[in-house]
Amino acid sequence: MRQLVPEPVDSVEPLDVYRDVPIVAGRPAVRLNMISSVDGSTAVDGLSGGLGGPADHRVFSALRSLADVVLVAAGTVRAETYGPADLPIAVVSASLRLDWDTPFFTAATHRPLIVTHRRAPAADVMRASKVADVVVAGESEVDLARAVAQLGERGFAHVLAEGGPSLNGALAAAGVLDELCLTLAPRLVSGAAKRILTGTALTSPPLLALHSLCEEDGYLFLRYRFPAAANGGR
Ligand SMILES: NC(=O)c1ccc[n+]([C@@H]2O[C@H](COP(=O)([O-])OP(=O)(O)OC[C@H]3O[C@@H](n4cnc5c(N)ncnc54)[C@H](OP(=O)(O)O)[C@@H]3O)[C@@H](O)[C@H]2O)c1
Repeated sequence: MRQLVPEPVDSVEPLDVYRDVPIVAGRPAVRLNMISSVDGSTAVDGLSGGLGGPADHRVFSALRSLADVVLVAAGTVRAETYGPADLPIAVVSASLRLDWDTPFFTAATHRPLIVTHRRAPAADVMRASKVADVVVAGESEVDLARAVAQLGERGFAHVLAEGGPSLNGALAAAGVLDELCLTLAPRLVSGAAKRILTGTALTSPPLLALHSLCEEDGYLFLRYRFPAAANGGR
């Protein structure tokens, strides 16, 4: 992979490019990783896998290795059949309609977390707590700012959000996104798949700062910082 921004480098490793995680005072930093086609589609036949490639897989792995916890929406877990991972995964779900018997829960080396709200069905909360740690954030819907704060209270300093678009839109609306890692895949998809963020339009669209740009095989790896996120290292 070659780096174009901040300065040209012929060959770089994703781990070195992405090592400087954002730092935010008072809560965990939240990095969002998404892949999109050139025309803005986030899925092919309902899955993101049709957009990926070898370099994208390396970036995906590097980002996970730098994170303390992954935050992902229930819709994506259901669509992409998430499996067990090398780090804790927190699943945002209001309905708690998840298949608790899948290897994601039963074969996890790190106990998953379920992020939900106080009015989630009690029986489902009981069922969830058998295979996951339940984080309650919000009264009648998931309060994502509160959820991120609670992940911080549990010792997770760096959150990697992995979508999907509905969760991303809600995270942006809650003002808790600090960095966007966007892979632009050299494909045209058309169709009705969602953009990287969906939901209510943001009242004041944040102006993002390009932090780094890499390229391999026509794939562009863009990294944008949100206002107020600082440079960090670890
Ligand atoms: N290209 C990529 O990088 C990428 C990454 C991830 C996903 N995807 C694709 O995106 C699609 C899924 O995205 P999606 O937008 O339909 O669904 P999603 O964002 O993955 O999941 C939405 C679900 O998250 C839960 N949720 C709870 N509180 C929420 C809140 N405050 N805001 C948003 N969600 C909340 C709800 O689950 P309950 O229904 O359980 O209450 C809701 O139905 C799939 O096709 C997947 O392949 C692409």
